[in-house]
Parts: sequence; structure tokens; C-alpha cells
Amino acid sequence: MRILLTGKNGQVGGELEKVLTPFGEVTATGRNEMDLSDPNQIRRTIRQISPELIINAAAYTAVDKAESEPELALAVNGTAPGILAEETKKLGAVLIHYSTDYAYSGKMRSDPYIESDFPAPISVYGKTKFEGDQAVERSGVPYLIFRTSWVYSMGGNNFLKTILRLVKERDELRIVDDQLGTPTWCRSIADATGSIIRQLIDKGGHSLSNTVSDISGVYHMSCGGQTNWHGFARAIIDLTSPDPMPRLVAIPSSDYPTPAARPAYSVLSNAKLEKTFGAGLPHWEEALKQCLNKS
Ligand SMILES: NC(=O)c1ccc[n+]([C@@H]2O[C@H](COP(=O)([O-])OP(=O)(O)OC[C@H]3O[C@@H](n4cnc5c(N)ncnc54)[C@H](OP(=O)(O)O)[C@@H]3O)[C@@H](O)[C@H]2O)c1
Repeated sequence: MRILLTGKNGQVGGELEKVLTPFGEVTATGRNEMDLSDPNQIRRTIRQISPELIINAAAYTAVDKAESEPELALAVNGTAPGILAEETKKLGAVLIHYSTDYAYSGKMRSDPYIESDFPAPISVYGKTKFEGDQAVERSGVPYLIFRTSWVYSMGGNNFLKTILRLVKERDELRIVDDQLGTPTWCRSIADATGSIIRQLIDKGGHSLSNTVSDISGVYHMSCGGQTNWHGFARAIIDLTSPDPMPRLVAIPSSDYPTPAARPAYSVLSNAKLEKTFGAGLPHWEEALKQCLNKS
């Protein structure tokens, strides 16, 4: 099977590249090989490779910067997925795309979001990602959108890396405790995606489009459990035991203003993913231990 992967230098894309190798001939692209803000380049590259499966793990993920670069964020997150979907459909192929918990508003919410909850994003990043989801859905391509949350890894820029750096630089860390969500290790996402692709191949052979047509839709895909950023920081510090141990102070979001608003609650229910594919992701604390080699 010919597979085209985008975002090879990103957290999820980097892990996916390893997971996808057994499935066939993988062309992994970064911004240099296929710039998602350039529709002509997207079309040209896809037509050259003629893949049977396209996996879009690239995105404009700088949540705060997106507030001042809305056109670029829209081009990459909103427009490009629609073009990928159109081209995928023309080839009779399948599209796997990733979305975000920031598609939801988090307002007046205290139980996990399910896929039939209608998104109401409150940031440019969230809005542009949701536009991309809608463009994929509208295209009529066989697709799976995996909506995930609070992605971290030992590479790239993410909360885990920030905390590991700050504990070396400061004796006190002030971290918000009024945003609830679920940290998700990029390897958990790649492993779950790989096991779903394996199932689809076992079911439908290497021509995936019929199998996926029947189950096209959005699926939540995050680790289990929930916490807030302060709780996530606490777990990182407890597992890594820095010396000296910094003080960890819980603060409200109002004491840490950011250009982009974040949902106060964005826990995702994985029930649909588990029911459809039997694929579960580990609890966030277990995944964190594995990521830090502490399990
Ligand atoms: N990070 C999170 O907390 C989070 C949370 C929920 C959902 N998600 C979603 O999960 C998916 C994977 O996210 P991630 O955490 O792996 O993101 P990431 O580490 O930021 O990687 C995204 C990749 O997209 C690439 N990219 C950005 N603009 C591009 C362009 N114009 N053309 C081609 N490539 C471009 C980046 O390339 P460069 O390396 O060249 O910049 C980067 O390698 C995305 O759909 C994201 O929206 C992420």
C-alpha cells in the first residue's frame, strides 16, 4: 500500500512514520516536501505519489501565535485538509486526519465531550481546525478524523518539555489549575492509529475505501482520565524528582493571560473509538510514565 504522511517532523507525525513502515511504501513529508499553505503543491505532490492512504498529521499548532496569523492558520488547518480530502477522493483513497479538543468551547461543561456534541471553538486555532474537519466531512471522501488533546512528547515544543526545562531554571512554578483535559502521549496516538489501520486492512484488504466509507466520522482519541495543567505538572515533577524540588503553586487562568483563550473543560470520551475499533489508549498517568521511562 502506498501511504502519504504529512507532518513527519511533528510529534504525532514522527511517531506515525515508525508505526506505518510495516504497512507499505511510506512517503513521509514535512513542510519542505509539501507546504500545506500552497494548494498547488499539495495537489501536485499527491498526484505524483498517488497514495491509497493519506494521513495528515501536520497542522499549524501554535495556539497563541495563531491569534496574530489567522490567514496562515486557516490555510494550513482549514483549507489544506479540504484539498487533501478532494484529492484523496479523486484517487479512491482514504484520508486520516487529526483534530483537536480546542474545537470545543468548554463552557458550562463537566462531563466528557462525545462526538455528537457540536464544536464551538473559542480561539483562532480551534476555529481553523474545526473548519478543516468540516471541509473533510463535506468532501465525501472516506475518512477518519481522530480528535485528540494536550499532545506531548520528549521532542518538540510541549508542556512536558516546558516543565522539564523550568524545574532546572526556577525554584517556584505557577501553573493554572482551572482548565481540565487529558494529556496524551504522541506515541499512544500513533499506536492506536496503527492498530486501527491493521484492523481495516484485515477487514477490507489493501483497498480500504469501502471499509472506511461505512465508518467515516470523527472519533475522539485521547489518553484515559483527566487532570488540569497543575496536576500534569505535579505528575511530571513527582516522576522525575528534580533536585532541588521546585515549589508548585496552583493559579487561575486569569493570573496567566494568553493571546488565545483555552477551554476550561475539554475532556473527550473515547467510548466511540473503543466500541468501533476496540482500541483503547492508556490512562494519561501510565502513558506519562512510559514516556519518561518510569513504568
Ligand atoms: N499539540 C497538541 O497539543 C495537540 C492537541 C490536540 C490536537 N492536536 C492535533 O494533532 C495533530 C498533530 O499535532 P502535533 O502535536 O504532532 O503537532 P506538531 O508537533 O506541532 O507538528 C505539526 C507539524 O506540522 C507541520 N506544519 C506546520 N505548518 C505546515 C505547513 N505549512 N506545511 C507543512 N507542514 C506544516 C510542522 O512543520 P515544522 O516542523 O516545519 O513546523 C510540524 O512538523 C494536529 O492535527 C494537531 O492539530 C495537537
